Amino acid sequence: MSNPSEAELIHMFKGIAFTIRSSPELLKSLDTFDAREDDVLLVSYPKSGTHWLAGVTAKLYNTQVTLTSPIEFGDISKLEELNKLSSKRIIPTHLDYNMLPPNFKKKKCKMIYISRNPKDTAVSMYHYYRDNPNLPTVDTWTAFFDLFVKGDVVCGSWFDHFLSWEEHANDKNILFLFYEDMKKDLPKIVKEISLFLGLNVSDNDIQDICKKSSFSEMKSNTEKENSDPSHTVCALTSNRRLIFRKGAVGDWKNHFTPKQNRRFEEIFNEKMKLSKM
Ligand code: A3P
Repeated sequence: MSNPSEAELIHMFKGIAFTIRSSPELLKSLDTFDAREDDVLLVSYPKSGTHWLAGVTAKLYNTQVTLTSPIEFGDISKLEELNKLSSKRIIPTHLDYNMLPPNFKKKKCKMIYISRNPKDTAVSMYHYYRDNPNLPTVDTWTAFFDLFVKGDVVCGSWFDHFLSWEEHANDKNILFLFYEDMKKDLPKIVKEISLFLGLNVSDNDIQDICKKSSFSEMKSNTEKENSDPSHTVCALTSNRRLIFRKGAVGDWKNHFTPKQNRRFEEIFNEKMKLSKM
C-alpha cells in the first residue's frame, strides 16, 4: 500500500495546516467552546516541550485533575466529552493566540506558554515528521528545513505562533516559559509554575517532581507505558519514543549547514524585529 498523500493527511483552516485528526467541524466549533474559570491551558508550538510541561503540571496537583489531549485534536464529540468532565481540566493546545477559543480569554483562564529555540524545534519536528505515518512524508532534512522556514508545516509558522502569544506575555493570567530554562534549572521553573498556579508545594515535593520529570525518567516510563497509546498528550502518535527522542539543547548544530544557519538567522531577524525577547 502506498503512503497516504499530503492532501489525505492535511487540511487548511484559517490559513494554518492541521492534520485530519483535527476535524474542520471541531475547529469551527472552538469559537463557542465553553471555558471554565479554573481551566489551565498548556500552550506550545509542537515539539517545544509540551509533554514535559504537562508532566510537571499534572504532578503539581494533588487533587484530581484531568490532563486532556490537545483541544484541537479529534472530532466534534471531543468538545462534548470535555464539557462532561467533572474534574478540573488541564488542557494542552498548539493553537495560536488568535485561534484560541475566546471564552478562555474572557474568563482569564491561566495559561502557560512554553517556547523553545526554533532551530531545535525544527530539528525535533523533522524527526517527528519522518517517523510519523500521520504526517506527510519528508525525505530529507533539507526539504524539511525549507518547509519549516516557510511555515508550511502543521500548526503553521513558528514565528507567527510565537509572536501571537508574545504579545500577551505580560498578561497576568499568562506565564511564559522557555524549554532551555527548564533544562538549566528545573526546580526554579517548577517553583515558578506552582506559584503561578497558586499551589502550595514544599521544596521536597518540588525536588521529587523534578526527579520524576527528568528526561531519562520520563523516557523510561514511556517504554513501560508504550502498550497504552492513550497515555500521551500527543494525539498524532502512539509511539512515545517519537516524543522522548533526545531531550537536548543545541541538537540543531548536528543538522543545520552553515548556509541554512545563515538563512535561518536572516529570516529570524526579519520576522522577530518587533519581538522583545
Ligand atoms: P527532541 O526531539 O529534541 O528530543 P513536545 O512534547 O512538545 O512534542 O516536545 C518534544 C520534545 O521535548 C522532544 O525533543 C523531547 O525529547 C523533549 N522532551 C520531552 N520530555 C523531556 C524532558 N523530561 N526533558 C527534556 N526534554 C524533554
